[in-house]
Amino acid sequence: AHLHPPTLQSSGLGRMDCRAKGGSPGFKVAVLGAAGGIGQPLAMLMKINPLVSVLHLYDVVNTPGVTADISHMDTNAVVRGFLGQQQLEDALTGMDIVIIPAGVPRKPGMTRDDLFNINAGIVKTLCEGIAKCCPKAIVNLISNPVNSTVPIAAEVFKKVGTYDPKRLLGVTMLDVVRANTFVAEVLGLDPREVDVPVVGGHAGVTILPLLSQVKPSCSLTPTEIDYLTDRIQNGGTEVVEAKTGAGSATLSMAYAAAKFADACLRGLRGDAGVIECAYVASTVTELPFFASKVRLGRAGIEEIYSLGPLNEYERAGLEKAKKELAGSIQKGVSFVRK
Ligand code: NAI
Repeated sequence: AHLHPPTLQSSGLGRMDCRAKGGSPGFKVAVLGAAGGIGQPLAMLMKINPLVSVLHLYDVVNTPGVTADISHMDTNAVVRGFLGQQQLEDALTGMDIVIIPAGVPRKPGMTRDDLFNINAGIVKTLCEGIAKCCPKAIVNLISNPVNSTVPIAAEVFKKVGTYDPKRLLGVTMLDVVRANTFVAEVLGLDPREVDVPVVGGHAGVTILPLLSQVKPSCSLTPTEIDYLTDRIQNGGTEVVEAKTGAGSATLSMAYAAAKFADACLRGLRGDAGVIECAYVASTVTELPFFASKVRLGRAGIEEIYSLGPLNEYERAGLEKAKKELAGSIQKGVSFVRK
């Protein structure tokens, strides 16, 4: 059962949709929280991705309108809407990738951790659905605090016995997108040519840009490094404050999420050399979860890269990041185990 679009079959019109016969190559993608600030532009960007053949839009409100609207775009993907908990299972069945931007965003003065109480429960429920209906799907988790929601998802999957660490990815792409933009601005370069690895996690000091590894290689002054590190770590807060209570980053996040999902899709297709940063189960540090560069392939994460050589500034940042991350991971794990 799904909402919209109204079936032509029910009106007696319309031939068999050639895309629905299974002949069309492409992947099935669900967006959970599709009617939200991130969800809507993300749904639009996934609708124009040529690798997507079926797009499921799920939310607890407003999906009929968003689905009707997006379904009129003349691109390949077939769009279906699902509204409310009773349609969650239909939304998830058969999906190759599930992208989760469901949950409340920050308001000025809030940290991402302040969202824990509401979003932890939402993520748990959605992941229980995934475990039941599409246990092999690649999960892109956006809901904050990502540092804790990824461990929550892992615990839910472990409980049911479907956990595959290669298929669970916390989306930190926006930190990379911001880092590329801000570094390009300082260097006077085109941001599309800049590649800044951002490791650690997705909140404050856990966001650790490795400015010594920027490509193309460059030398930044200590003042530039301080400015850039601070701006990258607090880019989210910059947007939250500018929006004065209307939420957090949605458009740049939708762009980042679509870019990340596209990398996952290219990996699934079998493309070589697809490498992005993500927050994943990891042995790169002593922590069970950590963001670093990963190679994406048919099985999801196929390789996790170590951090590479760090300078003294970055080593100090890493210690701070690990301390905060350890607490956030523990908080997520306890939420499910309690
Ligand atoms: P929003 O409030 O505009 O949208 C959230 C949507 O989730 C709403 O449509 C709401 O109805 C839906 N929702 C609530 N409970 C649900 C449930 N149980 N099942 C399905 N959908 C449900 O918020 P926005 O701005 O789209 O942000 C969403 C999340 O993304 C927030 O947690 C925010 O902190 C996070 N975020 C993460 C970033 C990252 O880099 N990973 C960056 C920016 C935001």
